[in-house]
Amino acid sequence: MSYIGYKNNNLFVENVSVRKLASKFDTPFYLYSESNIIKNYKSFSSNFIKSNPLICFSVKANSNIQILKVLKKMGSGADVVSGGELLKAIKSGIKPNKIVFSGVGKTEEEVRLAIKKNILLINVESENEAILINKIASKLKKKITIGIRLNPDINAPTHKKISTGKAEDKFGLSKASLISFCLNIKKFKNLKLNAISVHIGSQILSENPFKKTLKVLEEIIKRTKINFKYVDLGGGFGITYKKNDKKINLRNYSNLVEKFKKKYNCNIIFEPGRAIVGNAGILVAKVQYLKKGSNKTFAILNAGMNDFMRAALYDAVHNIIPIIKNSKKNKGPLEFVGPICETTCKFIKYNKYQKLNQSDHVAILDVGAYGASLSSNYNTKPLIAEIIINKTKAKVIRKKQDINSLLNQ
Ligand code: LLP
Repeated sequence: MSYIGYKNNNLFVENVSVRKLASKFDTPFYLYSESNIIKNYKSFSSNFIKSNPLICFSVKANSNIQILKVLKKMGSGADVVSGGELLKAIKSGIKPNKIVFSGVGKTEEEVRLAIKKNILLINVESENEAILINKIASKLKKKITIGIRLNPDINAPTHKKISTGKAEDKFGLSKASLISFCLNIKKFKNLKLNAISVHIGSQILSENPFKKTLKVLEEIIKRTKINFKYVDLGGGFGITYKKNDKKINLRNYSNLVEKFKKKYNCNIIFEPGRAIVGNAGILVAKVQYLKKGSNKTFAILNAGMNDFMRAALYDAVHNIIPIIKNSKKNKGPLEFVGPICETTCKFIKYNKYQKLNQSDHVAILDVGAYGASLSSNYNTKPLIAEIIINKTKAKVIRKKQDINSLLNQ
């Protein structure tokens, strides 16, 4: 069942008409479907039901606290990459024993916070980080459970800016360094090596790189002879942004994970972000102006790259649909752009589109992940509102930022 779609040519999110919301609230705004998030979470966990994993939602994908609360209710843990995300996850009610902390540059302050909160794992990304954590833990007279992050040198086919598992990427330890780290773990008196973790990139649409990663993990387990309590397999599961995007087949991978779990008697952790929230959000914007270009019409939206970065940053394709469909045609190609003073502040171009008028509203699709969380105040624009729909109810979960809060800094 789809929670975002047309009823009689009017776009609805669950049982709420987007047109009605657009006349009630200042556009642009993010709009999420709670049922869609819940459906995605259930579908992800049912795929892996046999390995009974701990699912740690990757907070960077969408860090709105109300969304974290929805996921907490579903039983989710959290994958965090900063002190701020850690505090937010805890504030949402997620228990520290379901929180893992990754990131190559954790500060002393963040390490201290993670230690004090007794989180499940600090996923260590370098030997020098381990030295720092050990030192702080020793001062606090604590033994800390850590994971060690592997860089498996696997090239996952995805956008080059979101691949993380190749040797040239800054993440994790190479196989050789990781093995040597594991064999010398005793020198870190205040660390307990409970996990090995890996995350090879994001928006991955083939299960092959995940399978290859399992093989590298097997090799490491055999060579170190360590019985890791947890194996954290990261996130990265892609969603279909474009009609022709292939769908990732998790069933087959799931069987391999189950075998792996049985063979090595470990607990599995996943850190999905995009797969849980990506398709559950739209960005509602107004056509501020139509402008004739030399060979196309520009539809200049009141939302820009400050509100939604993915198109500008990764050339990502996000379809834009009208909130009221009509059967008239626009003359010639139409390009959706934003107001920011950068050429790259543009979204998508269509050769054919329906007739649009100034002040019409449109929806940018699939913006639930890395949308609001990547937005900024560029051009001194306030952060826009976020609204969530639950059946017939709309709830503002972030107010549009007050412009006055930007004027004194
Ligand atoms: N775990 C770790 C350690 C990560 O670095 C990430 C994402 C995830 C889990 C979640 O990955 P997901 O399941 O969402 O693919 N801003 C980019 C994506 C950057 C991903 C960064 N790390 C985008 O909009 O495509």
